[in-house]
Amino acid sequence: MTTTEFPKGFLWGGATAANQIEGAFDEGGKGLSTSDLAIFDPNVKNGEENFTFNVDVDDFEDRAAGKTDAVFPKRWGIDFYHRYKEDIALFAEMGFSAFRMSIAWPRIYPTGFEDEPNEEGLAFYDKVFDELAKYGIEPVVTISHYEMPIEITRRYNGWADRRTIDLYSKFANTLFKRYRDKVRYWITFNEMNMNLTSIYTGAGILPSRSGESELQQAYQASHHQFLASALAVFDGKKILPKEALIGCMINRIESYPATPKPEDALRAMHEDQFNFFYPDVQIRGEYPRYMHRYFEENDIHIRMEPGDLQILKAGTVDFLGFSYYMTHVADASASGTFGKLDSEIKNPHLELTEWGWPVDPVGLRITCNRMWDRYQIPLFPVENGMGAVDKVEADGSIHDDYRIKYLNDHLVQLREAIKDGVEVIGYTTWGPIDLVSCGTSQTSKRYGFIYVDQDDLGNGTKERSRKDSFYWYKKIIESNGKALSE
Ligand code: BG6
Repeated sequence: MTTTEFPKGFLWGGATAANQIEGAFDEGGKGLSTSDLAIFDPNVKNGEENFTFNVDVDDFEDRAAGKTDAVFPKRWGIDFYHRYKEDIALFAEMGFSAFRMSIAWPRIYPTGFEDEPNEEGLAFYDKVFDELAKYGIEPVVTISHYEMPIEITRRYNGWADRRTIDLYSKFANTLFKRYRDKVRYWITFNEMNMNLTSIYTGAGILPSRSGESELQQAYQASHHQFLASALAVFDGKKILPKEALIGCMINRIESYPATPKPEDALRAMHEDQFNFFYPDVQIRGEYPRYMHRYFEENDIHIRMEPGDLQILKAGTVDFLGFSYYMTHVADASASGTFGKLDSEIKNPHLELTEWGWPVDPVGLRITCNRMWDRYQIPLFPVENGMGAVDKVEADGSIHDDYRIKYLNDHLVQLREAIKDGVEVIGYTTWGPIDLVSCGTSQTSKRYGFIYVDQDDLGNGTKERSRKDSFYWYKKIIESNGKALSE
C-alpha cells in the first residue's frame, strides 16, 4: 500500500436495508413486516430526531389491519423492487465493488411459519444478485435488518420467545442454500445493540405485552439472537463455500470521558464495554464477565438451556461489521442505562449534522484501532454517512459539498487506521441512494449520492438523479482513495 491508496481488493460501495428501499410491501407474495407498521409523523420537522419506529400493543393490530390514517413510508420505500436494475447501473457507474442489502424475511417466509419458502421472493433476490454480478459488484447480505414477519410478533412476541430461533434458522439456511454461489459476505443481524434502544425495531417485541422490565426483555431477546446468529454461522460454514465470510454487526459508538476525572473515565469505560458486549459474545463466543456483575446487580436473569454456551462458542463470526455515525461523551453524573444509542451530552469540540448527530472523523480512526486491538479480526465499516436536506437547483443539479466533506474526512481517517495496521475489508456508505429513514421514516433526511424525487408522503416521480457527491465518490473509487483531500 502506498501512503495514499487503500489496500488492493478493498471493497467500495454503499449500504441499504430492504425495508428502507424495496417498497412493494404486498407484492410477490410478501407478508407484512414489522417495519411496515412504522409510521411517519407529519408534524415532525426536519432536524428533529423524533423517532417513530416504536410500536406497542395499542397500535399493532390496527396498523396491521390498516384501520388507521397513519402514513407508512416503509411500505413504499424508494421502489427499489421495481427499479433495481436502474439503481444498480448507477452504483456500477460509480464503480462500486460491493453493495450491502438485506433480505426482507416476509418476502421469503410471509408469516415466518410456512414449511416452504415463497419462490417469488427468492427469485426476486436471484435477479438482484445476478444484476450485481453483471457489474462485478459483491453483495454483502444482512440476513435480518430491523424486520420480521408480523405473525412472529403476534404469536411469539418476536425474539422474546426462544422458538423464534428455529424460524430464523430455517430462514437463514434457505438463504445459504439458495444463494451459496452468489453471495460471499453475510451479516447475521444488523446492529443487535438496537435492542436496548428500540426493542420493537431490534427484536419485534411489543414490550407492554410482558410484565418484565424492558431491560430484562432486551437482554433475553439478545440471548436468543446470539444463539440464532451462532447457529447460522455454524450451519452456514457447512453449506457455504470455504471463502464465504459471516460477520456480526453493531452500531459502534466510541465514548470519550467528559473530563480527565477518573469517574468520567470509568463511565466511558462502562459505556464502551456495553457497546462491545454484542461483539464480545459473537467474536469470543462467551458472555463477558462484566455482564455477570451487571445482570446480578440489575436483577436481570437470562434464561438459558443446557448447551447454549457451547452453541455460542461454536458459532463465532469471521469479521466485525459496524456502523459509524458519531461518538458520545460520558459523564459520571449521567443517569442513562449503559449501552443505549443516545446521549444527552454534546461534545463542544464537534459540529453537528442538521439532525444533531456529532460529526467526528478522527473518532473513526480511534474506534477502528480500539476494535482491532480488542478482537484482531477484520473490520468492515458497513454504514457511515450524513442525513441532510438537499436542495435541487433550477437546472436539477444538487451541490452537496457538506456530504462530500463528511465522507472525505471519514475516509481520510479510515486510511489512517489502515496505516496504523488495522485490517479493513471495505467501506460501504449508508444510503448510496436516498431512502426512507429508519428512525423517522422521512425521505427528506437524505443520505444518497443519488437523489430520489420523492417527498415524505411518497409524492414525486421517484426519478433518480446524480448529486455532486456521485461524481466525487466515482473519483475516489477510481483512484482507490488517492483522490481524497487531506
Ligand atoms: C443505522 C441503521 O443505525 O442508522 C440504518 O442500521 C439507519 O437502518 C441508519 O437508516 C441511519 O439512521 P436514520 O434514522 O437516519 O435512518
